[in-house]
Amino acid sequence: MIQTLILSTLLAVTPVKAAQLREDNIPEIVSLMTDEEKVKLLVGGKAKSYNGIGNSALGVPGCAGTINSIERLGIPRVTLADGPAGLRISPTREGDERTFYCTGFPVAVMLASTWNTELIEEVGQAMGNEVLEYGADVLLAPGVNIHRNPLCGRNFEYYSEDPLLSGKMAAAMINGIESNGVGTSLKHFALNNQELNRLANDARVSERAMREIYLKNFEIAVKESQPWTVMTSYNYVNGVPAAENRWLIMDVLRGEWGFEGAVMTDWGGGYDNPGIIRAGNDMIQPGSDWRYEAVLKAVKDGSLSREALDECVTRVLELIVKTPAFKGYKPSEAPDLKAHAALCEKAADEGIILLKNKKNVLPLNPEKKVALFGTGSYDFIAGGTGSGDVNKAYVVNLLDGLSDRGFNLDSTVTSFYTRYMADEALRREEINKDRKWYVDVERALEVVPDELIESSSESSDIAFLTISRIFGEGKDRSISGSYLLSPQEKDLLDKLSAAFHSKGKKVVVILNVGGLIELLSWQDKADAILLGWQPGQEGGRSVAAALCGEVNPSGHLPMTVSRSYDDEPSAGNFPQFVTDKAFNYSFFRRFKDHKRNDVKDVDYTIYEEGIYVGYRYFCTKARKAILYPFGYGGSYTSFAYSKMKVSPTEKGWSVTVDVRNKGKVAGKDVVQLYVKAPRGKLDKPARELKAFAKTPLLQPGEKCSVSMDIPRESLASYDEKAGWVIDEGRYTFIAAQDALHSDCRRRVRISNK
Ligand code: BGC
Repeated sequence: MIQTLILSTLLAVTPVKAAQLREDNIPEIVSLMTDEEKVKLLVGGKAKSYNGIGNSALGVPGCAGTINSIERLGIPRVTLADGPAGLRISPTREGDERTFYCTGFPVAVMLASTWNTELIEEVGQAMGNEVLEYGADVLLAPGVNIHRNPLCGRNFEYYSEDPLLSGKMAAAMINGIESNGVGTSLKHFALNNQELNRLANDARVSERAMREIYLKNFEIAVKESQPWTVMTSYNYVNGVPAAENRWLIMDVLRGEWGFEGAVMTDWGGGYDNPGIIRAGNDMIQPGSDWRYEAVLKAVKDGSLSREALDECVTRVLELIVKTPAFKGYKPSEAPDLKAHAALCEKAADEGIILLKNKKNVLPLNPEKKVALFGTGSYDFIAGGTGSGDVNKAYVVNLLDGLSDRGFNLDSTVTSFYTRYMADEALRREEINKDRKWYVDVERALEVVPDELIESSSESSDIAFLTISRIFGEGKDRSISGSYLLSPQEKDLLDKLSAAFHSKGKKVVVILNVGGLIELLSWQDKADAILLGWQPGQEGGRSVAAALCGEVNPSGHLPMTVSRSYDDEPSAGNFPQFVTDKAFNYSFFRRFKDHKRNDVKDVDYTIYEEGIYVGYRYFCTKARKAILYPFGYGGSYTSFAYSKMKVSPTEKGWSVTVDVRNKGKVAGKDVVQLYVKAPRGKLDKPARELKAFAKTPLLQPGEKCSVSMDIPRESLASYDEKAGWVIDEGRYTFIAAQDALHSDCRRRVRISNK
């Protein structure tokens, strides 16, 4: 009797512990959650100081955001962190002596230049390992938006102008990262092709161009890698914010492509908070009180149904149960940074592109005396700015890379630059200290005394000149400030070229850039041009290896290099008047009263060129405007193709081609498979990339056979009335080393019967 009394008293005072989240009880947990808890789960953790770049108050220090925990139900806090070149977290923590540096890998456009999906998957594995070992759960990468215009400030974070190359790269990256049991966020869905007014710009584009170009990249990545999450973009798409666009999220992404994961907004994206949830966009990131209140109010007054709310909550819980945080993983906080640095170098080695090599000036015997010019040589740029930046422990300069490879450097030039850069560092530190994250980083100016140019052209055998560019999110590049050489750079190149060439000596230009710059007006002044991109923290080592031939460049262009900006198909429909002051990011930020103005290329951008983006345009309508075609990449050797065979398979065709190294040094090639469709109802590009393969390293004289699959449905074009259609008739399958040429071709007749 007394015992029963004690037991019932105990039961009355001890709260019964609620069910705890497990992989198999998500519906039960949803049924136990209050409205407040559900909204807390969908509206993310708060930002620290919200100035537009992901910066969370919670989770791993320096991460971009979090999903809130609900301890009562065993729901842990989940950490979301950037980005495409590696994990972005704070390198130091208060009260902790240790450091938390991450590996700064080559930027995405350089990874795409490798055309090597296996290598990209390997890079993904390493990035994902850092995510896991530093205690994060989801990496906010990869970015897959199409390079519509060379001035887009984020092209370095994206792969290519071509949707197949972009989609395949993204799939490989996602598969690599997620093999660690951490997530990814495929971004920015969709049509985020300019930074100017990115929160409110309306991308006005035909459904055909979306289906074939701007969504195709996402479709390939989703179908081939099923990422844990997708991030919607800031901009509007045909009048509806992408974050609130139910057609994009529910019909296309989930309905048509079978995406099973969760969707989140970009940081601060979307205006109508209940509308975001109603559209099937599961998470609003980062959280803030007004967004939380707005969603909760809509639930209470019935304007946001509990059914819609529960669907999003369920998908977020399905994401959470997969995370290391949920599984109780104890991060080591000590990933193998040495091994990852070696991989970074390996990836950069394959992404460097030899654009020009007149009279085989490269590779250069390191015993030759080199005059190393260009402030970039001494302050090499590893990656871009904004959320795609990585806090890495160091960056290997070109100076160090060349010294390590035993290059004989002209000390009069290196000591001038070393002194000058130290002075410039003081000046720049002052300016960069208060730099808003979307304003260009102040770089050292190019000021070289004429006498030094003259004397070094006597004392050295050759000049190297590095031209660098850095930029990032929130702002597009300007023609005069970034796309063209600055007057000082032009002057330096002119003088180097005159001094060295007059003595029969050569000039090599190294491009250390995150996006294309204009080449036509000055490329004759350089004997060789090496496109080294922003190659990550080991960059100087990789570029030096390519210069001396220790590595034979095998990168190929993931975009077309046109002769001039005005030749670009989107030149008439892209903002070109950007200056730091007048049109910066905050100028355009709109809060509650997002009144639409009507300024072309600012408030709206018309994608007038339709499907004719990049080589699709140039190869079909303006071949003369090409300087270097899409897919082009020089080498210290050359390759020959033969025995192309096309065999039908269950799903389409298998194409095999023999590739032989016909030169004197070992090298790798990129075989590109283009298809030319027969004349049909729709106007079509002269050719489109349908598959590609990177060869293994082939020794001189060595041959290999590469095999590529072409699924039948990949030949379809989008008819806005009839949907995807494959015209009947004779298709030409072209194996080529770039988008302009044909090495082998085969005809294939296709009938729909
Ligand atoms: C960027 C995203 C990034 C997010 C979180 C946004 O400003 O557009 O790409 O993932 O911030 O840092």
